[in-house]
Parts: sequence; C-alpha cells; structure tokens
Amino acid sequence: MALPLSLLTALVVISYGPGGSLGCNLSPNHVLVTRENIVLLGQMRRISPSLCLDDRKAFRFPEEVVDGSQVQETQAISVLCELLWQTSRVFLTERSSAAWNTTLLDKLRTGLHWQLQDLDTCLEQETGQAEPALGKKDPTLAVKRYFLRIRLYLKEKKYSDCAWEIVREEIMTCFSSSTKLQERLRKKDGDLGSP
Ligand SMILES: *[C@@H]1O[C@H](CO)[C@@H](O)[C@H](O)[C@H]1NC(C)=O
Repeated sequence: MALPLSLLTALVVISYGPGGSLGCNLSPNHVLVTRENIVLLGQMRRISPSLCLDDRKAFRFPEEVVDGSQVQETQAISVLCELLWQTSRVFLTERSSAAWNTTLLDKLRTGLHWQLQDLDTCLEQETGQAEPALGKKDPTLAVKRYFLRIRLYLKEKKYSDCAWEIVREEIMTCFSSSTKLQERLRKKDGDLGSP
C-alpha cells in the first residue's frame, strides 16, 4: 500500500493549525509508529478483498474530528486516545487472536500501547490548559459511535473472515487519516533532534 506521505515528510512536517501548537509535545516517533501499525495491518491481510465485495460497508469515519479545523487543540489528544483505545478494544479480543496471525497482532498491540503511553505523557504536560468550553460537542463521541458500528458489524457478520478483512482495511484508512491530527500535535521545534 502506498502511504500518503513519505517517512521523511512525516518527520519534518510541521503543522500550524489554527490556535497554534499545544503545550504538550508528542514524541517525534508517534506518527512513525502509526505508519508502522498501518504496515502491520497491511501484512495481516489473509484473504483477497475481492472475495469480500458483498460484505463491504460504509462505517462513516468521522473525518471532521481528525481534519483539525473543527477540533479544539485541547480535544485533539482525547480524540487520538479514544481512537487508539477503541482500536485496541477491537484487536485485543480472543476472537481477534483467533482471526489473525498472533505475531503480527502482538506487534500491533505493542505499537498501540506505546502510543497510548505517549499520549498519556502528553496529557500530563497538558494539565493547567483550559478545559474545552462547556456545551461544545465532544468529538470523542463521534469516534465512539464509529467504533460501535464496527463492533456491531463484526458481531452481525459472526466474525467471519471477510468481516475481519473489511474491518482491517477500514482501520488502516482510519489510522492513515489520524496522522493529520498527530502531526498537528507536534511542536514546531526542538523535537527533531537536528543540530
Ligand atoms: C505470522 O507472521 C510472521 C511474520 O510475518 C511469520 O513469520 C509467521 O510465519 C506467521 N505465522 C503464521 C502462523 O502464519
């Protein structure tokens, strides 16, 4: 699968979203781990997607929560945490272990775990930042609903090989979209390790 951005670009992209960067600083490796996870998900493929055309489903990824413009900086971390947590929920199950190569699955879980810890560190640096205004829509709800649709779909399809295949592809796309938000959470300097 062709990645939307080269690794080099990923490492040097500096995002100046509206409102500037956060007080917290995601590890420079954060986006890198996302890309590794996308590669792992690619390697996990077991059957040809062309055999699963009848099982395709529009899960309606809430693109607006990762494109940045509608998410407050302070909410961005929550969105990413939710995304990782919900993905772990899909792939930590016994059914998932039965469906996938466990070597690859373990690597994926390790990557997700590392990213959650990285976000946690980021959140600790965030204490003292203003809370999102009351009454604002919570963008993590859209992420929760999206993953609920995915889990219900798997259940409905009785965790068939095709259902897993469709979900695997869906989450690859979802991760790919989430890099936009991760890049936005990178501070503008001091974290590239360049002289
Ligand atoms: C699982 O994937 C690894 C790495 O690609 C491979 O070496 C191994 O043979 C696979 N195991 C099974 C049971 O297919």
